[in-house]
Amino acid sequence: MSTTTPVTVIVGASSGIGRAAAVRAAQDGSGVIVTYNSNKDGALETVRRVEEVGGTAVALPLDLAAPETIPGFRAEVERTLAATWGTDELTGLVNNAGAGSNALVEDATEEHLDQMYGLLFKGPYLVTQALLPLLADGGAIVNTSSNSARWSGLTAGYSAYGAMKGALTIFTRYLAKELGGRGIRVNTVSPGPTRTPFAGRVFEELPEVTAQFEGQTALGRIGEADDAGSVIAFLLSDGARWVTAQDIEVSGGLRL
Ligand SMILES: NC(=O)c1ccc[n+]([C@@H]2O[C@H](COP(=O)([O-])OP(=O)(O)OC[C@H]3O[C@@H](n4cnc5c(N)ncnc54)[C@H](OP(=O)(O)O)[C@@H]3O)[C@@H](O)[C@H]2O)c1
Repeated sequence: MSTTTPVTVIVGASSGIGRAAAVRAAQDGSGVIVTYNSNKDGALETVRRVEEVGGTAVALPLDLAAPETIPGFRAEVERTLAATWGTDELTGLVNNAGAGSNALVEDATEEHLDQMYGLLFKGPYLVTQALLPLLADGGAIVNTSSNSARWSGLTAGYSAYGAMKGALTIFTRYLAKELGGRGIRVNTVSPGPTRTPFAGRVFEELPEVTAQFEGQTALGRIGEADDAGSVIAFLLSDGARWVTAQDIEVSGGLRL
């Protein structure tokens, strides 16, 4: 078997930015394997929205907090590639899963640190390692970091979250270096405040928070999931064929 159809795995695509990226990737002609952890219905809704734009998607479970399940996940990806697209290769991987939890340095527990490490760095690292043998030469990887890892997003309480996102951004550069010989490009997107389930109902329930971010953003609004999803899809696409090892902030100019 070889690659006849492009297929992208998007880890963490049961809502928000991952879902938007899945729909955009499908519009660009890629099949999509979307993963969920707790929100299976959300993943099935992503599949439905991909189908609505004429694409094909399959939802698979994956809990990054349980790294021992990653080999089984890889086997499921292989089975799905063969059964749905008649291929044994992936063309894209998006490490997008994440959750924020905040604690001031003086209050952060070891458990909090371990959670952030497992979900935001160790998980994406091990998933990438496991799927690399399936990734076609010339493929692309996009990692979703955060502007919490940049000056523009520095907010008290996010030291562990921001540091692990920073680690993911640095991992991206090393991947780009090591995989360049195979023509594989690796980049990160760093969203600013974006209206997704990630932030709960903060933007709806606390208009003063929304107003504060809007006032600090050059383009004057909060980000929407598709603002970041469309950049992820671009970085996966041939239009970005000469872009690798980059970190693109997608924040509308937060704190410019
Ligand atoms: N929204 C923002 O303001 C913002 C800003 C900067 C960066 N980001 C980053 O953007 C990415 C996407 O977030 P989003 O805003 O689109 O939020 P979201 O809608 O809550 O999506 C998060 C995704 O991550 C998955 N996930 C969470 N815990 C997981 C685990 N243990 N194992 C596997 N998957 C898990 C979720 O799956 P289930 O729901 O199925 O559990 C969901 O698909 C994240 O990496 C986040 O850190 C977001």
